[in-house]
Amino acid sequence: MHHTTNPDELYTQARTVLAGGVSATARLNAAIGRPFYIQRGDGAYIEDLQGKRYVDMCISHGASLLGHNHPAIVGAVQRALEHGIICSYETEHQIALAKRLVEIIPCAEQVRFAGSGTESMMHALRLARTATGRELLIKFEGHFHGYADVLNYSWAPPLHAAGDPHLPQIYPESSGMPGALTSTILVLPFNDPEALEEAFAEHGERIAALALEPINYDSGCIPPEPGFLALCRKLCDQYGALLLFDEVLTAFRMHLAGAQGWTGVTPDLAVLGKAFGAGMPISAIVGRHTVMHHLRPEGTSELSGTYLAHLTAVLAAHAAIEIYAEPAFYPCLLENCAYFYRSCAQLIERSRVPLRLQWVGPRFGLYFGIDAPVRNYRDAARQSRAMLRTFVAGCIARGVYFHMAAHHGFSGVHDRNALDLALNAIEGALNDVCHAHQ
Ligand SMILES: Cc1ncc(COP(=O)(O)O)c(C=O)c1O
Repeated sequence: MHHTTNPDELYTQARTVLAGGVSATARLNAAIGRPFYIQRGDGAYIEDLQGKRYVDMCISHGASLLGHNHPAIVGAVQRALEHGIICSYETEHQIALAKRLVEIIPCAEQVRFAGSGTESMMHALRLARTATGRELLIKFEGHFHGYADVLNYSWAPPLHAAGDPHLPQIYPESSGMPGALTSTILVLPFNDPEALEEAFAEHGERIAALALEPINYDSGCIPPEPGFLALCRKLCDQYGALLLFDEVLTAFRMHLAGAQGWTGVTPDLAVLGKAFGAGMPISAIVGRHTVMHHLRPEGTSELSGTYLAHLTAVLAAHAAIEIYAEPAFYPCLLENCAYFYRSCAQLIERSRVPLRLQWVGPRFGLYFGIDAPVRNYRDAARQSRAMLRTFVAGCIARGVYFHMAAHHGFSGVHDRNALDLALNAIEGALNDVCHAHQ
């Protein structure tokens, strides 16, 4: 294979040696028919193989909340390397990071670290099942909790296979998952208090956990309706089930205490990921001591691994938290949010493209073809993927990188200049959508 920087040629080569042509399914950007190959990232920008810079509106699917190449994160990784690339040993630094989380996150009395969000969610569910001695999981349609066999259901089911909107059919999101597992999960519509109350009334004594994205970014951006999370909390308390917040995307996103801080509802267990490591692979399970003590070696629920809490990621996460904790970080970020979404809403209105924008903090959903509020997955699934594809391709052509994903967003280092570049490209791409789809 000859060396090439041509992205189409690279993708051809990739398909011969990387299974499926990618390193992760989600790396394919359907709007351009291949992955977007980059050579580096810096601040709010990524650079393609020809050296062209793009404002990054994907930010590593939400992980790079401090942008790319942040000096504090680079410094933390370098400090970790000076310890000798140690791995599989305990140091004082895991304890220090856990202490910091206990100070910050309302439900965190104890902490355990893992690598990815997938890994932590799988372990959190096992822990909830151990702690309650029950098996049934309740999850909401359109909520994504990683790829483990025990959780990889009904986050983007095709509507023809999704069943009744009020009592969705469970939908395995991959082949190869044992069919028997579907009997351990009940899928409900989000923001539907009646369906939730009925499910608890019918199955309450069997429910180990109610797991949810407190803000459902994986269906774009669907916030909980007033009182809905409080109802989740109340029913879990009433029936002895555990409330598990999947804060992989919400952690540190809009509030130092994540969605728990933003909504004021405290779960029993939460999983933090993505922005927690600011681009380094680390996640955490945090929760009440009475639940967490079920983890081995004290308890019986297993959670171990050679690479868990790798020092490079631990020091990066700690450095990231110190930046998030600076008094100006969230006020500045939220000011930029207000500016960006206000401008974006004006562009949408002027373009006359039917497009619903929903956002919480610096992450947002764009629902093309929809102009009513999106309250749950079924609403979101009515959006036009074809229009989104035109939009994403139009932004990329204008030097702004959007992924063909449910949610988009920017970082704390996207300044007005970067946001204005993004807004200009959005204006042009909306024009493309108008011409291609009217
Ligand atoms: C809400 C949520 N949970 C879990 C995951 C899985 O995390 P990871 O990709 O780190 O395995 C993701 C992200 O991809 C996510 O958005």
